[in-house]
Parts: sequence; structure tokens; C-alpha cells
Amino acid sequence: MSSKHTIILSSNEHDLAQAAALLRAGKLVAFPTETVYGLGGDARQGQAVAAIFEAKGRPNFNPLIAHLASVETARRYVQWSDHAELLAEAFWPGPLTLVLPLRKGHGISPLVTAGLQTLAIRVPAHPTARRLLVLVDGPVAAPSANPSGRISPTTAAHVEAGLGGRLAAIIDDGACGVGLESTIVGLAGPWPMLLRPGGLAAEEIEAVLGQPLRQRDTGDALTAPGQLLSHYAPNERVRLNASQAEPGELMLGFGVMACDLNLSTSGSLTEAAANLFGHLHQLDALGRPIAVAPVPNHRLGQAINDRLQRAAAPRD
Ligand code: TXA
Ligand code: MG
Repeated sequence: MSSKHTIILSSNEHDLAQAAALLRAGKLVAFPTETVYGLGGDARQGQAVAAIFEAKGRPNFNPLIAHLASVETARRYVQWSDHAELLAEAFWPGPLTLVLPLRKGHGISPLVTAGLQTLAIRVPAHPTARRLLVLVDGPVAAPSANPSGRISPTTAAHVEAGLGGRLAAIIDDGACGVGLESTIVGLAGPWPMLLRPGGLAAEEIEAVLGQPLRQRDTGDALTAPGQLLSHYAPNERVRLNASQAEPGELMLGFGVMACDLNLSTSGSLTEAAANLFGHLHQLDALGRPIAVAPVPNHRLGQAINDRLQRAAAPRD
């Protein structure tokens, strides 16, 4: 059920212990990760996971990512593989999610996996997330802490504005460093698949694997439904690849140019990723349509353009 009052916690020891106790009691707690703020619930408690969907107003039960404190604990829930070992060794803790076959006796609520035989797992790098996960001592399911379909949260204030009153607590520990959700790699099939571009560039993953990641065909069933076409949506219309604002529009720039907010004046994709959702939140609050400058489509630009295309997609 929804909590009427959402408390704001800090990252001190006392507050994190309180957050862990709330999670173990089946309550929802939003916490910072290096990518975006997550809306956490105990992945072993069906009621807690159901409450996540209710709080976000998700139209259907998309599978969620289980967050673990360490590689050793993550391995308990899935069938490990050589590729998983290579990628975990290179990139965990960090902004990478691996999808692997579930292991027998895993104890994860079937609501987390939406009944699939695979589990998405991630060991986040954010120190506060890691301390919290150690205290919880179990898997925490956490989608991005925003109402379904809206812009992802990179500050506690974004979480409070979107979900306040629908969760027990928010741990406020500043802005997220990466600013884009984790990159999701599927390792349950014959080839490593890029299921969602994200905060870790695909090129870096391919270099470690020594082979290209396969991309989902557009005709495939939605296996990573952050993949709904309209997503990350501001209230007003979004127009992409704009060289300048038209009358009435706000301009979100990239590189040196006239604009209302700039993702990165120096043209840094890393800086642009960290600023993307925060800048969209700020422009959205002004209640006017948004024009967005072109962003190069390599490295983190791939994930930035993926999110921008969804923000601009036609809505139902
Ligand atoms: O950075 C992140 O990944 C953030 C932070 C909080 O960790 N979390 C996040 O969760 O972005 P969410 O729920 O917004 O996105 C999870 C994505 C969804 O697109 C979902 O479809 C996909 O992961 N997913 C989860 N389990 C899956 C599975 N078994 N197979 C394929 N895709 C899966
Ligand atoms: Mg999301």
C-alpha cells in the first residue's frame, strides 16, 4: 500500500540502518546509485515487489533488476558463465547489468523476473548503494525511481517530486555521477546481446569480450521493456536534431551554441550523460516544448540518443 508520508534520510550509518530495516520489513526505499536513483524493494518479498509496480504506476509487470552488494552474492542467484566472469571482473561494481539464467532455489519473487527464467543482476558502484546492500544482506529489486514513462531521477528531489507519498523513504545523497541507466547485456542465449545501451559504452564491453555485441532486431519481442517507445517523456513535445529553437521552444544544446541549457559546452559525452535527465527535468518544469541539438551517436552518445528518441516518441 502507499505510504502517506515519505521520510528523507541521509547516508549516515544510523539512517542507512533505518533504510535497511524498512526494506527488510517489505517497505520501499529510494536510494542513489551511480546511474540513477532506484526505487528499492526486497526482491524476495512478492508484496514488496508488487508495491514497486503500484508506486510507479507501471502499466504491466516489466522484469526488474536485482541489486547485490558483491560479485560473490550476485553469483548465488544465477547460472554463472565465462562471459559473466569476464564482464564482472572488468566492470563490477559499475553501470552494467547482466541477464543470466536463474539458478535453482534462488528465492527471488517471480514478480521480479515477470515469470522469465532469467534474472537481470547488477552490483552498483555508488558507495551508499553498496553500504545499504551490505546492511540489507539480500537482493534489492530496483527500477528507476520515477513514475512509469517519465524522466528518470538523478537527484532525491526528482524522486520526491515524482513519487513522494508513495514510498517509505528516500536516501538523499546528491546527484548521480553517470546519469544514465546501466547498460544491459543478455548472456542467457547463444551470443552476448546488447539489450539496452546505457552508462557503460558498448565499445568497452566489446573490447573485453573480444567480439561484437548483437543488437536486438526491431521485430523482436520486447525483452527489455524500458524499451517502450514513448518513455522518459517530459510534459511537452520534444524535437530532436534541432539546430536552433523555434518560437516558443526551449533549446537543449550540445557543444558551443545559443541555448537555454547545455548538455556539455565542451562536447563531452560523459558530461552530457550526467546532465541529460536533470536538464530535461529543469526544462520540463518551464512547461514549453523542447528542441534538442544533435548528439554524436557513439560511445555514451548511443544511450543518450536512445533516451532522447523515446522522450520524443509519439505518445498514446
Ligand atoms: O541503472 C539502472 O539499471 C537503474 C538503477 C536503479 O539500477 N535501474 C533501472 O531499472 O533502470 P528499470 O526497471 O528502469 O529497467 C530495467 C530494465 C527493463 O528495461 C527490463 O525490461 C530489463 O531491465 N530487464 C529486467 N529483467 C530482465 C530479463 N530477465 N531479461 C531481459 N531484460 C530484463
Ligand atoms: Mg526506468
